[in-house]
Amino acid sequence: MGKLIIVSNRLPITVGSVIKKSSGGLVSALSGVSTDTKMIWIGWPGTFSSNSDNSAKLKETLINDFDCYPIFLSKKEVSDHYHGFSNACLWPALHYFSLHIHYSSRFWDSYVNINRKFAEYIAENAEDDDLVWIHDYHLFLVPQMLREMKPNIKIGFFLHTPFPSFEVFRCLPHREEILKGLLGADLVGFHTYGYLRHFRRSCLRLLNIESDIAHVLVGKRFCKLGVFPIGIDSGLFLKELGTKKFIKRRNELKKAYANYKVVLSVERVDYTKGILRRLEAIEKFLYHHKHKLDVAFVFIGIPTRGEVKEYKELLGQIQKKVGEINGQYSNIEYTPIHFIHKTIPLSDLCALYSIADVAMITPLIDGMNLVAKEYLACKTDSTGVLLLSEFAGAAHELISAILVNPYDIDNVTKNLENALLMDDAEKDQRLIPMRSHVLRYDANHWAQTFLDELKQSRKRIKQQNNTNLKFISEKVLNLIKKAKKVAFFIDYDGTLREFEDTPDKATPTKEILKIISELARCRNHEVFIISGRKEADLQKWFKGVNVTLIAEHGYSILLPKSDKWQMTNPEIDLSWKKKVIKILSQYVSTPQGTSIEEKKSAVVWHYRQADPEFGKWKSQQLLGNLLEILTSENVVVSQGNHIVEVSSSQINKGFAVRHFMQKNNYDLIVCAGDDKTDESMFQINDPRIISIKIGLNQTFAKYKILSPALFKGFLAKVAKRGNI
Ligand code: UDP
Ligand code: G6P
Repeated sequence: MGKLIIVSNRLPITVGSVIKKSSGGLVSALSGVSTDTKMIWIGWPGTFSSNSDNSAKLKETLINDFDCYPIFLSKKEVSDHYHGFSNACLWPALHYFSLHIHYSSRFWDSYVNINRKFAEYIAENAEDDDLVWIHDYHLFLVPQMLREMKPNIKIGFFLHTPFPSFEVFRCLPHREEILKGLLGADLVGFHTYGYLRHFRRSCLRLLNIESDIAHVLVGKRFCKLGVFPIGIDSGLFLKELGTKKFIKRRNELKKAYANYKVVLSVERVDYTKGILRRLEAIEKFLYHHKHKLDVAFVFIGIPTRGEVKEYKELLGQIQKKVGEINGQYSNIEYTPIHFIHKTIPLSDLCALYSIADVAMITPLIDGMNLVAKEYLACKTDSTGVLLLSEFAGAAHELISAILVNPYDIDNVTKNLENALLMDDAEKDQRLIPMRSHVLRYDANHWAQTFLDELKQSRKRIKQQNNTNLKFISEKVLNLIKKAKKVAFFIDYDGTLREFEDTPDKATPTKEILKIISELARCRNHEVFIISGRKEADLQKWFKGVNVTLIAEHGYSILLPKSDKWQMTNPEIDLSWKKKVIKILSQYVSTPQGTSIEEKKSAVVWHYRQADPEFGKWKSQQLLGNLLEILTSENVVVSQGNHIVEVSSSQINKGFAVRHFMQKNNYDLIVCAGDDKTDESMFQINDPRIISIKIGLNQTFAKYKILSPALFKGFLAKVAKRGNI
């Protein structure tokens, strides 16, 4: 393996009079991952250089001494990309604050440009055997951009925030581009399964791409999905707990708060953190306990994103509320709330964690929340209580915390009282298993599991593609080449042509017409397009191509160069159609987005444009209804790709294939299709048949090819090797 390239909006360094490496979770998580792999970091250094000489010098130092490859950005770029699209548009949407979304096309243009700048710089510095790991929402478009520039590189993406439900995600302008950007990765990681589920749902609703829990099929390849809850840099915290500086600070703080219980909150001053509601709960608590005030509330409010309106306003509101509460409940010796709007040194942070009786962490929503985990790591004597919002990602793991709903303020107050009164045995019982979990599943474990999965991702996909393709290309391709006469029965939608949101958009591309013409040009080939489509559509699309067209699943046939369709079964009974149309009509007003298509030998109910879940559920009802009513008719009721079709039982694709097999002496018959209606071809019991299923579903076919794109690749190979 080559090197590991980490990409994040900001580099893990602080440029001042001296350059310092920062000690964030990600930095140390990755430094221990694999000693034999070189690691470089790409990102913004956090400065605006005044002239290009300074930038060049800084770049050299950063690369040579810190393995950090800087991308310099102007003030305007940072303002529009970081403060603008990233933090005033994406961040609120990802955290369900749709009212806080501020969009402008200027922000978006800058977001696209900066993402491209990142992708280009990665491409310049990456070799094909490198692993690229991109972090967070500032860089959603980079995976796809990079894939286009460097298709062989393995690309991972980890989202450090929640992924919201579809109804909120769809509020974002450019939501489709964002999803497509992410799907360029080989592996996309989330903190929780819930976020992963939401992502899949958005892919389905916005891009019409189906997925399973672990994969999204994107054209010819898979994008893998995974759940990797981030952990803390436990080594850093355990080491700090052994330092003299920490012990000194802990003793000082213990003394300062000797007469009080300490309730601690640490967070960036962000509206997602639920600070105002927490202050309300604290105010209620103080009101109930005004006769015996012995609890000190320490708030560490880390400054953040001060240029965004909501952050500025929030800071003002917090300061006002803290002022009101302190004004009301302070006395000469006692001030209830200590609000510190600064970052504090690690030794102070650990000392606070260590002495705090309760960590009160009540975000309205939070991707993970590392503070909760850091608090547990620093509780070596098991004397603390974790009061945690059930809407923090960490709540999925820290299940013996006191979990609260931050919107239920009375309940938060009550649980704060319970936490302060909890006996030592219960504290132990709750804290010990959580602490060992936090120490075990730390940041290093997180990074290692993500990277292991990323390394595996392409390998497994390659194997999977190859087993299908290799088998077909080596054995079947030779068989086809050697055969004197081969018939190809090729379905159209979902086999040659990818689906569109409406069937009329799925016309054949130039590529399809070229491949089919070339396939049909070979002396020993006879090509049939066998489709559920109407006669007129097929005739228009394949005009001039030397193929036989079979319309409506085998109802009628148009031989090459002829313009007269023949019925395969002139005796066919179609008297049931009126009754069927009446039943289907009842299913068109709901779900919205459904329609009826009438063919000569079939009637189809389409639900591709309806809500996928509701549509599927209604389709089950419709199926039941039809089967009940049509028992004595000559019909087959079948469910296809977003359709329910009622067709004559006196025809099917299998009958049509047999019809030609009887008349001709083929030595091979290739049948390919993606849908249930194609199974009648696959079920023909004849050793000459090579049946190919396009897609992953259950089938009677012998071979599977994952997608229309791969199938077309196979046909192109067959055509190339054929005898002209
Ligand atoms: N932290 C900090 N400066 C401080 C106090 C804390 O940088 O003065 C760190 C804290 O140790 C934690 C991080 O800020 O690692 C906050 O991460 P969290 O996941 O809780 O929330 P986020 O800021 O990512 O929303
Ligand atoms: C969250 C985001 C990170 C970001 C951090 C600090 O954790 O997911 O990507 O680095 O907040 O945000 P800031 O904008 O203050 O750097």
